[in-house]
Amino acid sequence: MSDRKLITAALPYANGPVHIGHLAGVYIPADVYARFQRRSGKDVAFICGSDEHGIPITIRAKKEGVTPQDIVDKYHGIIKKSFADLGISFDEYSRTTSAKHYDVSQDFFKTLYNKEKFTEEVSEQYFDEQANEFLADRYIVGTCPNCGNVNAYGDQCENCGSTLSPSELINPHSMLSGNIPVLKETKNWYLPLNDYETFLNQWIIEGHRDDWKTNVYGQVKSWLNDGLKPRAMTRDLNWGVPVPFPNAEGKVLYVWFDAPIGYISFTQEWAEKTGKNWKDYWQDPKSDLIHFIGKDNIVFHCIIFPAMMKAHGDYIMPTNVPAFEFLNLENEKISTSRNWAVWAHEYVEEFPGQQDVLRYALLSSAPETKDNNFTWKDFQTKNNSELVGIFGNFINRVVVLIHKYYDGVIPAGNADAEELIEIKRAAAEIAQYLENFEFRNSLTALMNLARFGNQYLQVEEPWKTIKDNPEKAAHSLFVGAQIAVALAQLSEPFMPFSSEKLLTMFNVEKLNWSDIETKDILIETGHQINESSLLFSKIEDTTIEFQIQKLENTKEENKKAVALQTVSQSEGAEAEAQIPKILLPAKDEIQFDDFTKIDLRTATILTAEKVEKADKLLKFTVDTGVDVRTVVSGVAESFKPEELIGKQVMILLNLAPRKIRGIVSQGMFLLTTKADGKLTFVTPDENVANGIEIG
Ligand code: MF3
Ligand code: ZN
Repeated sequence: MSDRKLITAALPYANGPVHIGHLAGVYIPADVYARFQRRSGKDVAFICGSDEHGIPITIRAKKEGVTPQDIVDKYHGIIKKSFADLGISFDEYSRTTSAKHYDVSQDFFKTLYNKEKFTEEVSEQYFDEQANEFLADRYIVGTCPNCGNVNAYGDQCENCGSTLSPSELINPHSMLSGNIPVLKETKNWYLPLNDYETFLNQWIIEGHRDDWKTNVYGQVKSWLNDGLKPRAMTRDLNWGVPVPFPNAEGKVLYVWFDAPIGYISFTQEWAEKTGKNWKDYWQDPKSDLIHFIGKDNIVFHCIIFPAMMKAHGDYIMPTNVPAFEFLNLENEKISTSRNWAVWAHEYVEEFPGQQDVLRYALLSSAPETKDNNFTWKDFQTKNNSELVGIFGNFINRVVVLIHKYYDGVIPAGNADAEELIEIKRAAAEIAQYLENFEFRNSLTALMNLARFGNQYLQVEEPWKTIKDNPEKAAHSLFVGAQIAVALAQLSEPFMPFSSEKLLTMFNVEKLNWSDIETKDILIETGHQINESSLLFSKIEDTTIEFQIQKLENTKEENKKAVALQTVSQSEGAEAEAQIPKILLPAKDEIQFDDFTKIDLRTATILTAEKVEKADKLLKFTVDTGVDVRTVVSGVAESFKPEELIGKQVMILLNLAPRKIRGIVSQGMFLLTTKADGKLTFVTPDENVANGIEIG
């Protein structure tokens, strides 16, 4: 193991604030690890910054009607502040729009170019003629050829996880205008990843079978089994690091080319400020490079970036890439666009001084090996029963009793007491778990020491023995104080704010981790301690109810937004349901008279059956109140016919009849699309009579 640790945490996109999913799955574990390594005397560089290029940012800017620079300025500020507020101890938190980063990433590109590591390929890319722009990656949506998800992106289907190229999408649509794009020739620079297969196989598949997490190893293996292809490292876009050639106007570095180089440029920025040599961290084989990421980043950190560094030639490979799974919120997928999240900056405001509670709760449900779930009830329980009930309670008893009986001076006790072995054991155990990236186990080991302390006091009962066996009481509180100070020291990586308060309370200095593992005692007899201060306090039901209500409100708002979206979509009976993830721009204004032409009514489905040789269609008879009629609708992939019988729906009654697969369809149902791409009916809140007007 090396004495130098270069620790990186995935650069968050500056297109929105960070939420608990990001925190639990990357930043808090990375911070615990970095803090632990510093306490172990390692030479640590903990590097991160905002990822300010890429299409999510330009899309957000379009949506808000501002420039991409406005977007990244706003979110970089918010993100940086919430990390600082939560005690994430980055040595450097920079951004990919910094001048230094432009230099470093352009240099990197030129080096690869000069070493003839790129191939130049002319390809046909989708082009939006109305917007006069090429449509890279996420600018294009269509149907996934693998799973049929109608909202797949040009680079990836979020439903089945497959990686796509825009040309594979069925029914491609431009995110800019909604138009069908045309193909147009363009030249880009490609990195032939296939040239690195042998290297990657040897390095990861043979070399890291045993020490990398199985989720990471497995994903890399399956990529390599499928075989790698050349991948374009430049894009036809106007937001990004410009390709540093005179003949490359309108071309920028691929965001996944420039962003990981951010780790390097930010280390250089840090080194310049601190007088370090950045190459010691990036180019010395004695340095350990560790990337903390979410599972959706595995391919970029285990295949593409290593191939780039290998092509360059001067860089070390990562020692490990601990990737986390995803965190759900109240059993639902966290979603920025649906505002289904607990936002870091809001938490900090709503729970002042309680950063450690969030750190603790998120670490104890960190999605280490599988997706995990955060609930507010669970958060409350963890605080009230564990932090207040066990940890805080133990410390408080020790401090209060030492003040009460000994005026705050540590009493005499036997330094050979066998209980003290528990401290060394806990320190070694936590260290072992952290070296293995087992954060939940390490937290449990810490908590177990507090539990042990509590039980010890419970058995010893110094508040009783003080009367007839004062020597015993003194010893008990001497031991109690050792355990409490151990907790003060060992809790720092996990709960840095509380640890600091505790160190002040006991009036002791931070110790190196190996000292905690080896020293016989951590606080001397005769040492004066300070008054106890509040560590954790009970979180009331009303506080939790407020948070749950906030989420309920989000749900309500989302329902309204979905209903609005449906009315704004003109959707044919073929129901292609091409609803991009971002809302379409508002349509041109209409007059009330236009609206009154639309005859929307409540109706009930009487029968439903499949339409032969049409996978998507169902044929219905519907009671519209005014008549019984036939409607053909493209919902077969979202519902079984039998589950729709008797369902109340909303129907556009006066749509001109259309012949679909030989059947005359009279009218159209109001439908919308759920996050998983499946359709759902827009229905009244409560059943009403059929034929009632909607408006
Ligand atoms: N912004 C990316 C994401 O949020 C992560 C970039 S990591 C880096 O998924 F390596 F590219 F920097
Ligand atoms: Zn798919």
